[in-house]
Formats: sequence, structure tokens, C-alpha cells
Amino acid sequence: MSASKGGGVITGMQDLSWWKHAVVYQIYPRSFQDSNGDGVGDLAGIRSRLDYLVELGIDAIWISPIFPSPMADFGYDVADYCGIEPIFGTMEDFDQLLQEVHRRGLRLILDFVPNHTSDQHPWFIASRSSRENPKRDWYIWRDQPNNWQSHFGGSAWEFDEKTRQYYLHEFLKEQPDLNWRNPAVKAAMFDALRFWLRKGVDGFRVDVMWLMIKDDEFRDNPPNPGYAIGQGSRAQFLPIYDADRPEIHALVAEMRGVLEEFGDRVLIGEIYLPIARLMDYYGQKLQGANLPFNFHLLQCAWTVDELARTIREYMAAIPPGAWPNWVLGNHDQSRIASRIGVQKARAAALLLLSLPGTLTIYNGEELGMQNVLIRPEEVQDPAEKRQPGIGMGRDPERTPMPWNSSPLCGFTSGNPWLPIGDANRDVNVQASRTNPDSMLSLYQRLLRLRRQEPVLVSGQLTEMSAADGLLTFLRTDASGHIRFAMNLAEEAREVSVAAGTVVACTDLQRDGEHVAGTLNLQPAEALLIKMTN
Ligand code: NOJ
Repeated sequence: MSASKGGGVITGMQDLSWWKHAVVYQIYPRSFQDSNGDGVGDLAGIRSRLDYLVELGIDAIWISPIFPSPMADFGYDVADYCGIEPIFGTMEDFDQLLQEVHRRGLRLILDFVPNHTSDQHPWFIASRSSRENPKRDWYIWRDQPNNWQSHFGGSAWEFDEKTRQYYLHEFLKEQPDLNWRNPAVKAAMFDALRFWLRKGVDGFRVDVMWLMIKDDEFRDNPPNPGYAIGQGSRAQFLPIYDADRPEIHALVAEMRGVLEEFGDRVLIGEIYLPIARLMDYYGQKLQGANLPFNFHLLQCAWTVDELARTIREYMAAIPPGAWPNWVLGNHDQSRIASRIGVQKARAAALLLLSLPGTLTIYNGEELGMQNVLIRPEEVQDPAEKRQPGIGMGRDPERTPMPWNSSPLCGFTSGNPWLPIGDANRDVNVQASRTNPDSMLSLYQRLLRLRRQEPVLVSGQLTEMSAADGLLTFLRTDASGHIRFAMNLAEEAREVSVAAGTVVACTDLQRDGEHVAGTLNLQPAEALLIKMTN
């Protein structure tokens, strides 16, 4: 992979589709900014913070679901694919937000939840009303359940008293799975995509893309020999028949086709699969997802050996012409600063911003936000409520953004739906902005650098080495060479480097330092050196 060239001169990132050089910023709308004092974030709140995002230096926003929803799974239970949930505002608010986003040269990506609807969606209400209802086959009904388990624990089948059959729900019973083998479902859902595309949204993040099609014979999943008590009921079985079925790829290609009707939009798939399986989601002739989300940095142990192995394996597996992407966190995963510690999270920011392709940052990551301890009486997440105490809860990483040092951190004037968390007060935007050593300032510098140095986006990644707690690699193209080095050892380490200048470092004091020969790196220190030749 290398940047496009014209007559020996790098023409740079303007030759790439916008989403290829974009840094996407994920907004969890309930926790970003409340504008009306109900303790829950909303669209007007997001609009009021757009200048912050411009200042940060991201390119696109992905907003987790904002559609009408009973909120059984906080918006991932959609009751109308073409509306706006009143708690978040109105369609007018949305239109205004989209306009304001575009006016600032940013892009807007919505969250599409195709695997399941809310049980309050009119389609499901009709479907469950009688076996003869024309919408019956829009969902998955069976006389007998098989052994498939919900991702939130317990059987994935719910018995419906009225019509005396079971319906499938891979998540909550309030989230019945749609039957994507029914062409009418496909047509209706694709029309919902068109509704937003016509408005001008720039793409979709597709929820649980790898789950959308299930085995047509409903075979039982085989037992998981590696299962250990405490991993949740789903882990008892290997997800052979209710996930990642071969038919999914034709469906994803059709979905991509809908986006193609509208030009340069992006299709991002949420897919938790091993690297080899993940790659199939780029599709035949790359007509699948533009970006099958790469969650492997979320899952790998934070050691240089594991990081190098993961990065190498992922890059080697990317099909020719396909585009890589990287993520350190999202609303379902423990925050990076809690997972690896605040100091190493700074180094992780440097690593992320040095990797090739499209990046996604989860709101608050740029501040160094940590997981918030949630007391039992504060629990909101249905995953935690169904399987308490085994680490399934996602509230800790979903807490409100701290904007300033006031008691409610400027998030709301009301009662925040989740606690703010003491550790996160200190990293509030107002304080971070004026502190050159803050995580926010580091992210800002790194985002600026990535725009200035297209080699970081699209140059080759070579010369990777991991030894003795040190990870190094080179990003290179005709525009220049930038070396990355990170020390994850407990003691200082030396790296030998050719002559160059430090263009970013976890330690601000080193920015601009000229280096040649031996370089000393403190524990959790990472830097980027622009090589002289
Ligand atoms: C993945 C989403 O990211 C998660 O938050 C949600 O609970 C499930 N899909 C079900 O939609």
C-alpha cells in the first residue's frame, strides 16, 4: 500500500476516498452532551460541540443509534428506522445537525441495526399478532427452540403465548431477529438506508453484521470445549450455526450496492471474528464492507510481542486493494486507559495514530477517560442486569463526557443517567485544552501530524521489530520515512536510530528533538521520528 503518486510527486491524500484518510469519532449520544436538562445527551447537544470536534481534528462522526426506541438496549432496539427518538430531539434537529456537520467539512455516519428490531416495532407487533399475519415471516419463528444462546445470556428463543411458537432473539427478548432471507425484509430495510442516504448521510456503521444470517436448518451449535464457568451462557457453544454463515457475503454486497447508488459513502461492519474470517467481509472483488471493523487491538494483550503479531497478521491478511482500519475502544469495551493504564494509553494513542488506514476514536478516549465504577443500584446496561457480576456490564465505558470542572462537568443541568466518575472529572475538556501535557493535547498534536504526513495514513508499514519490551516500525513512501518506537518494558530501553527529528512523543519535552544513534526511551514512552533521509 502506498500513497498515490503523480510524476514523482506525492499527490497525497486528496487522491483517496474521504473515508480512507478519515479519523472517525464515535459519539455515544446518551453521554455526549445534554441540552435540555433531562440527564441524557441529545442531538442539539452534539451540535453545540461540533467546534470542539473540529479543534480536535477528526474528520467524521459516527453516532450510535438515534432512532425511536424503547431503550431496552439503549437505542440498539429500533422501533422506527426512519425517525428520531424524542429523547434525542426531532427530525429537524437531525437535519440541522447534518447541515452543521457538513458546513464544517466533517462527515456523518449513522448506526444501522439490521439484525433485530425492537419488539415495539410495528413489524414485530404485526408479526406476533397471528401466524397468518403477512409480517409473520419477517421474523424467525419456530415450533421448537434449538440450543442457540443470546449474547446477553440465556436461550435466544422466547415462547410467545398467543401464537404458541418461539421467536429468535440473539440479544434481548425485546430485540427479535429479523428474517433476512425474506425479500420483503430486505427491501424495507434497504429503503430505510436510502431514506438517510437521500438526506446526505455519509455512510453507516452496521451493527453485528456477521450475525445477520442464520443457518436455514437451525442446527444446534456444538459444545465449546474451551468453556469455563463464568464466561456467560453463550460461551458454552461454538457459534457455528448462528453467526458468520456463508450467505452473509451476498447480503453485505447487496447492502453495499445500495450505498453505491449514492456515490462515495462508507459501509463499516461491526464484526468480531478472527482475522482470517474478518477479511471475507471486504467481499468478493471488494464489493462487501469498505471497512470490516478491526477490533484486534481491543482483544490483544498489551505486550510488544502480541501487538507486533497482531499488526503483522492483520496487515498480511488484507486482500489486495482493501483498506485497513484500527480501533482502541467503543461503547461495548473497557476503556483503553483502564485496560492498560493511563501512561500506556498515551503510548497507545501514538501507536493508533501511526497505523495505516482509517482510525476510529471512541468519545472520551481523547481525554484519557477511564471506566467508572458503577454501584449495583446504578446499573443501566441490560447485559449486566441479565448476567450480573461476570464482567458483561458496559456502563463503566458509557459514562458522560466531562466538559468542565463544574459539579456535573457541563454534561447536563439535570440528573445524569450514569454517574460522571471522579477520575474523569480531572480530565475534563476545559482543563485538558489548556494543559499541553494532557491526553487531549497529545491527540490534537497527533491528529494534526497525521494530516501533515500522508505517509502515516497510506505509506508502507515495514521493519517491524518487537524485542525486550520495545516495539518499532517504519512508515515509508516517496514523501518520507517516519519511525515509530514504543517502550512497554518496566525499565528504560535504548533504541538505535538513524538521524531524524522527533515529530511526536508521549513526553512533550521531546518534540522537535534531533536524534541520531542511540535513543533512550522511558517506560511507557512512545515517539515518532521523521527520518532525515
Ligand atoms: C452491538 C452494539 O454495539 C451493542 O451495544 C448492542 O448491545 C448489540 N450490538 C446489539 O445490538
